[in-house]
Amino acid sequence: MRHLLILLLGIFTFMSQPAFSSPVIILLGPPGSGKGTQAVRISQKLAIPHISTGDIFRYNIKNATPLGLKVKEYLDAGKLVPDSVTLEMLFDRLNKDDCKNGYLLDGVPRTVAQAEAIQEYLKAHPHKLLVCNLVVSDAEILKRITGRRSCTACNKIYHIESAPPMQKETCDICKGPLTQRTDDTPAVVEERLKAYYSQTKPVEDFYKKVSQVHDVDGAQSSDQVFNSLLKILSPSA
Ligand code: AP5
Ligand code: MG
Repeated sequence: MRHLLILLLGIFTFMSQPAFSSPVIILLGPPGSGKGTQAVRISQKLAIPHISTGDIFRYNIKNATPLGLKVKEYLDAGKLVPDSVTLEMLFDRLNKDDCKNGYLLDGVPRTVAQAEAIQEYLKAHPHKLLVCNLVVSDAEILKRITGRRSCTACNKIYHIESAPPMQKETCDICKGPLTQRTDDTPAVVEERLKAYYSQTKPVEDFYKKVSQVHDVDGAQSSDQVFNSLLKILSPSA
């Protein structure tokens, strides 16, 4: 009887622990490099949540929440939201139950201070860290961002040339209206690129010290980028 109890306790303890191999995927890359496009596909394929700080900020702005009102001016100007605000929101999200078996981060960390805070958090949470960096030229970024449209209802991302909807300005999935992001103007993109090179690019060096950083050619077609990422993230898939 005692042995049976010990065995049951062992099974219960094992099952209530997250698997050590829970993937924590970090998708780095400049604005418009395809992080959101790929993150949706990967999170579906690996069945882990896709956490985009940009999407969470936009959701809060759209719904005029206190957080939305606080961050709107930063997004409109193409500047980074302060680390304290971003990290509080992020850890709140990571502590939700659906992140127990891994997650994919899109657009975060964006500063070395954010990367350090996430690394500290991960020390207390067993995981397998996988860092991929989408590499795309500034000229291609400008073309991609100015042609981007997103669904106002389900957030699906389109491009007027490379990924157009079947029906003009209408989402293929939910039939919601498509819109252009307010920060997708050439002037704001220039600011976002400045923020990327001065504050986010150094994050790559941070990760090169703690993990391997897999550079992926983001200029390939969307399917090719997806397959390249899958080979790194889930070689058996
Ligand atoms: P965020 O929403 O993260 O924007 P971003 O990093 O500027 O990136 P984008 O969403 O513009 O591009 P993406 O890489 O996701 O590309 P996508 O897949 O859409 O952040 C917005 C703002 O929020 C920031 O400026 C900041 O203010 C704030 N913020 C967010 N996170 C923060 C943080 N951690 N700290 C502080 N502030 C933060 O693709 C782009 C286009 O290209 C689409 O039209 C798509 O269809 C097309 N496309 C994609 N892949 C391909 C391909 N392979 N070939 C051809 N076209 C393609
Ligand atoms: Mg995005």
